Amino acid sequence: MIGAIPPGARPLEAAVYHAAPGMTRHLLAELGEWDRQDGDLLLRSGPVLPARWVRNIWTRPFLLEFASLGEAAAALRSVQRNWAPCPARLFRRTALLAEKLPPLPSKPKVFPFDPPPAPMGAFTLLDEGLLLGSAACSSPFPNGELRFEEDTEGPPSRAYRKLWEALVLAGKRPGPGDRCLDAGASPGGWTWALAGLGASVLAVDRAPLEPRIAALPGVEFRKGSAFSLRPEDSDPLDWLFSDVICYPPVLYDWVEKWLDSGRARNFVCTIKMQGEEYDRATTDRFAAIPGSRVVHLWHNKHELTWIKVNE
Ligand SMILES: C[S@@+](CC[C@H](N)C(=O)[O-])C[C@H]1O[C@@H](n2cnc3c(N)ncnc32)[C@H](O)[C@@H]1O
Repeated sequence: MIGAIPPGARPLEAAVYHAAPGMTRHLLAELGEWDRQDGDLLLRSGPVLPARWVRNIWTRPFLLEFASLGEAAAALRSVQRNWAPCPARLFRRTALLAEKLPPLPSKPKVFPFDPPPAPMGAFTLLDEGLLLGSAACSSPFPNGELRFEEDTEGPPSRAYRKLWEALVLAGKRPGPGDRCLDAGASPGGWTWALAGLGASVLAVDRAPLEPRIAALPGVEFRKGSAFSLRPEDSDPLDWLFSDVICYPPVLYDWVEKWLDSGRARNFVCTIKMQGEEYDRATTDRFAAIPGSRVVHLWHNKHELTWIKVNE
C-alpha cells in the first residue's frame, strides 16, 4: 500500500517539506509556520500544503525508534523497496543505513521516458535510534533529483533539460504533426528538444536563434517580442512554451489571452522571479488555473514552472 507505515512506527499528522536547493527562504515564507527544521527539511503539522519551492514533499511521515541499523532497514524494507536517504545530521550513520537497503537507480535517464511507477520513500535520522521517514513522497525520484544523460553537442544551451523534465512530469509530450510555439526561444535549447521530438516549432525571440537550430527541419524563427503574438493572428497551437525572461504578471496576462481564446491546448511556461523576489500573488494566479500546477523542477533555478496539459 502506498504510504504505509512500518510496524512499530508512529504516524504523524504532518508533512515534511524538502526545500529546493538554495530556496529554503521561499519555502519558509510559503509554510508560514513549522514544527522543526533539520537542514533543508521542514516538518509542519496539519494537511499537506501545495508548497512550490520544494524538491520533494514527504506526504505520510512517521517516526520509527530502532535499536540497530539492521532493525531499521528491515522495518523500511517491510513496507517497500525504495528509500532515499536524506541526511540532515548523523551523515555517516545515515549512509550505513542506506547501505543496508536496496540500491537506488543511479544512472542518468535517457529522455524520453515515463516516470517510474514504484513508490520512492525518503528518510532521515533525527538521532542515533530515531528515524523520520515517509513511504509516500510527491516526487518519484530520490529526493526529487532527476539527472538526464546529456547531449553536449546538439543543443546550444542546457535549458533543454528543464523542458525535458517538465514533459516527463506532464506525462505527455509533443510529437510529429504537433504545432508548438516556443516563446523566448534563443539560443534554441527548447526548440532543439521540440524539433528532436518531430514537432514543428515557431520560435520567437528578440535575440537570434543559433543558425544551425533555425535550420533544423520543422523550425521557423520569428524575431520580435513573443507578447505581440496574439492568438487571433495565429493558427491553433498544440503546445505553447515560454521561457521568456519577464515579470510574471506580463507572462500571466499573455497566457490568459491564449487560455481565453482556446487556441492553445497544452502549456509549459517558466515563471521567472526577479532578483531575490518571489512573486507569490502571480504564482497563485497561475496555480488557480484549472487543470494546472506550478512546480519547482530539479533543473529550475530562481524560477518555477507552470504546466497545463489536456487529458
Ligand atoms: C532563458 S532565455 C531562453 C533560453 C531558451 N529556452 C533555450 O532553451 O535556449 C530567455 C530568452 O527570453 C528572451 N526574451 C526576453 N524578452 C522577450 C520577449 N518579450 N519576447 C521574446 N523573447 C524574449 C531573451 O532574448 C532570451 O533569449
